[in-house]
Amino acid sequence: MQIEQFRYGADNLGYVLYTGKKAIAVDGGAVQRILDFLEKNDLTLEVVTNTHNHPDHTVGSADLAKISNASLLSSSQAAKQKQIPLGDEAIKVLATPGHTTDSICFYTPGILVSGDTLFNATVGNCFSGDIAAFYHSIKTLMALPDDTFVYAGHDYVEQSIELAGHIEPESLAIEQYLAGYDPNLVRFTLAQEKAVNPYLRFNEPALVKLMEARGLDTSTEIARWHALMKAF
Ligand SMILES: [Fe+2]
Repeated sequence: MQIEQFRYGADNLGYVLYTGKKAIAVDGGAVQRILDFLEKNDLTLEVVTNTHNHPDHTVGSADLAKISNASLLSSSQAAKQKQIPLGDEAIKVLATPGHTTDSICFYTPGILVSGDTLFNATVGNCFSGDIAAFYHSIKTLMALPDDTFVYAGHDYVEQSIELAGHIEPESLAIEQYLAGYDPNLVRFTLAQEKAVNPYLRFNEPALVKLMEARGLDTSTEIARWHALMKAF
């Protein structure tokens, strides 16, 4: 499976995943550039879907589906389906509630399209209010292979890495991470995320110490996740 990233809006990132001559689009806001890409690469768009039902992610998707004669799948429909077949392959749909109740991620070996659930160097806001569900979603993503690239729904790298550096000023990994930032192709591996993204570092002694200094409950992993979400 291959993937192409499309920047649109202020900092949104949408995607086309493709194999052979078949493609699916996730968050199709860059309608014309996606159409151009499909034409240039002789790809047939089969499905247009979304990571969740926020307007900056669904914008353009209905138009893109209509123009390309592709089927339009809402995030809830995609979640029910559990996977989206594409050519000889299939893209797994992971239900990852937290940012919103309908948030989903798409996984195929080497590729995670993570919407507003997991960003490079941070996580999404918990608009659903269900911080426990968000924790389980993040744990699901963390269990994927470390060499999986995280393709997020926004490019928040610069501001997020600044916060990460504020939290862990001694970290050498943060400098290395930032050196790998390319606004033309925003992606980092899960291993890189685990090294810098504070919200994945709830078991790291440095972070635990920081939470303890603030008088937060660090007795269990989920308590530390709650503490992290509360503190930062
Ligand atoms: Fe969102």
